Amino acid sequence: MNPPHSYWSWRTLANGALTKPGIAGYPHVEPAQELLLEATQDLTGAGRALDLSARGGAVALRLRENGWAVAATDEGAASLAALHKLELTDAGGQAELVCLMLSAERGNARVQAQIAQAWSRTALSGVLLLAGDKDKGFERYFKQAVQIFGGGEIVQRGNGYRVARLVKTKLEPPVTPEAQHFIISARGRSVRCSAQPGVFASGKLDAASAVMLEHLPNASGKRVLDIGAGYGALGVTLALEGATVTMLESDALSVQSCVETLALNGLIGSVLHSDVDAKLPANARFDWVVMNPPFHVGRDLKLEVALEFIAAAGRHLGAGGEVWLVANHFLPYEAPLAELGVLNVVTLERGFKLLHVTRV
Ligand SMILES: C[S@@+](CC[C@H](N)C(=O)[O-])C[C@H]1O[C@@H](n2cnc3c(N)ncnc32)[C@H](O)[C@@H]1O
Repeated sequence: MNPPHSYWSWRTLANGALTKPGIAGYPHVEPAQELLLEATQDLTGAGRALDLSARGGAVALRLRENGWAVAATDEGAASLAALHKLELTDAGGQAELVCLMLSAERGNARVQAQIAQAWSRTALSGVLLLAGDKDKGFERYFKQAVQIFGGGEIVQRGNGYRVARLVKTKLEPPVTPEAQHFIISARGRSVRCSAQPGVFASGKLDAASAVMLEHLPNASGKRVLDIGAGYGALGVTLALEGATVTMLESDALSVQSCVETLALNGLIGSVLHSDVDAKLPANARFDWVVMNPPFHVGRDLKLEVALEFIAAAGRHLGAGGEVWLVANHFLPYEAPLAELGVLNVVTLERGFKLLHVTRV
């Protein structure tokens, strides 16, 4: 159970869909999903429909109202919590109608993985409704999807967004992008890493995370919580040094990457697909909490998630525990961190700051 906090408060949208901080588009429906809502307005049917990027369920609920047997899923843990509350689930298999919003902000490889997944989940002669942002390569991705599906046209336009309707007539499976395997050098060690398509800093050690890893003291024997773990750069490096690590991550492909990165290094750790600490037992306590928090949700600059990372650190720090947070120098994390204990600025370098709090 989480303590009462606005981050965890659900807001009900027009057709019963849910939203909260951490769900893209909060406090509204994302513009691409708005356009999908328009495209599905009069789309009645008696077959199976599947929403692969369902967010808080707006399109899935619309399709259910229109007579479809609806399944829904999403990459994000907060969205999965909303779908669970709405009793929208995904048991696998194919559907006659599939909806997908492209996560273009996560790059080409993620979009290609999404389109390949949509192809495999669409029944032959079935329809994919594909939504995306014109300024984030939608026309190009649409053309790639047409090659894979067999045919299609753009059916809805508005506010820079597009919805295309594709019909699956091709049986040849598309190439699915694979995980990237690479090695990062940190703390005098080589860490073998795996990153699924579109995972943060895939192929490298993020420059801010590098600053943190250069300044942390020895982690051996520490119980470490890594919030927003990505492919595991911080958590797995510290686990190699002898820490016992728990990693929290909201993005499903990042969770998979963390599991793979641990395995590549012959390590055991705990990885939870979790909106901040929602999946962590309330009584879990750690010596260190490390984080390089996100400051975007979808395409918007938003700090709610980062501030909740800090609040979660406070919930799970043991007596004398320490928080290590690295961020771009301009992000305003000092005041909420100072509420947790004694704050000091460890370093300001390369445009980043490493902040440290000791619980007293
Ligand atoms: C700046 S990246 C840092 C990744 C990794 N720690 C590193 O240093 O490479 C922030 C991470 O937070 C994750 N994230 C975003 N929102 C989250 C949430 N609500 N709960 C948990 N993780 C989240 C993102 O998916 C992303 O992997």
